[in-house]
Amino acid sequence: MKLAERYQKAQPSGMVKIFQAIEKMDEVLNLGIGEPDFDTEHDIIDVAARAAKDGFTHYPPLQGFLDVREAVCAYWERHHGLNCSPEEVLMTVGGIQTPNLAMQALLNPGDEVILVEPCFTPYFTQVRDSGGAAVSVGTTEENGFAPTIGDLERVITPRTKILLLNSPCNPTGRVIPRGQLEEIAALAAKHDLFVLSDEIYEALVYKGKHTAFPTLPGMRERTLIMGGMSKSHCMTGWRVGYAIGPAELIRVMTMIATSRTYGLNTLAQKATSYALTNHDEKLIERKNIFAERMDYVSGRLNKMKNVTCAFAEGAFYLFPNVKGTGLTSEAFVWKLLEESHVAAIPGSAFGPSGEGYLRIACTQSMEILIQAMDRMETFLKNL
Ligand SMILES: Cc1ncc(COP(=O)(O)O)c(C=O)c1O
Repeated sequence: MKLAERYQKAQPSGMVKIFQAIEKMDEVLNLGIGEPDFDTEHDIIDVAARAAKDGFTHYPPLQGFLDVREAVCAYWERHHGLNCSPEEVLMTVGGIQTPNLAMQALLNPGDEVILVEPCFTPYFTQVRDSGGAAVSVGTTEENGFAPTIGDLERVITPRTKILLLNSPCNPTGRVIPRGQLEEIAALAAKHDLFVLSDEIYEALVYKGKHTAFPTLPGMRERTLIMGGMSKSHCMTGWRVGYAIGPAELIRVMTMIATSRTYGLNTLAQKATSYALTNHDEKLIERKNIFAERMDYVSGRLNKMKNVTCAFAEGAFYLFPNVKGTGLTSEAFVWKLLEESHVAAIPGSAFGPSGEGYLRIACTQSMEILIQAMDRMETFLKNL
């Protein structure tokens, strides 16, 4: 057997290496996990079980059941004032499948996609696999890890086709303010860019309100929202994502998905339809729990030697600055893991602008977070 050349030198990512090391260690307090620690609520599970017994065991409609697409529209209208119709929605296999289908549908060979880093790294692979060229735009803590118009304009060429945004952001936990999104929208219109807006953390904004990018003037026809159930409804294992965008793009993405996954699991769709319609109160409950944890952790981090940390804005990540320790992100994380059995992800695993930072996920109980912060404080004192 001979693997394809592009995979012959494939190495596990920085994040995977940490998780592999943790498996061989005892009593690690793992602040690296990018999924909520809450199980899916049992009434959601009951709906899926009932649907199975009611005969929803066949192939699903390729774009998704009408009721679940209607539920997606109703949810986005209720929460974010976005008016859309079921023809503009495609159910996907996890949020991770959406950019993949969109890039397949939009990119000609060599078309450029602007990725704002530090970012969710699968985007890079997806651009490559779609025949596009990824162009990174770095960000800084001083600018809230949001791209500046100047930096974006510098990399735009006649080949630039897509700008990919992610707010609230994994890994920085930062939210791009509405005013800045408006400037980006004007730039997208000026240069005729299509915006892939990864809004999978829309339910987890702690200050102010989430802005759905297509609600900005003129953006509806040039934006695809990438959403999903993993983070908002604690349904990571169900693998439910969705795309909301122009009907013509959704039609082509549906056609592409037909030869990839042939639709999204029927039971997961039924569970999603129910969850989107009936769980608004739970969203607020969990958001408050994450807010409390993030306030606690950022408060503790800010009192530690050589660490500063911005307060929580969105998602469940904090992105403390550890440059004062003189260690690289990677060296810091491995030393912390080996000496204190606390796991975090090096900021540099998400792109060069993440160097000097750590990603800390507040996806553990308060009890574990307290212990982890105690260990980290001692680690830093002795560094
Ligand atoms: C920014 C971002 N987008 C998309 C995803 C994909 O989520 P899923 O495929 O579980 O829906 C993740 C998961 O961590 C993420 O952080």
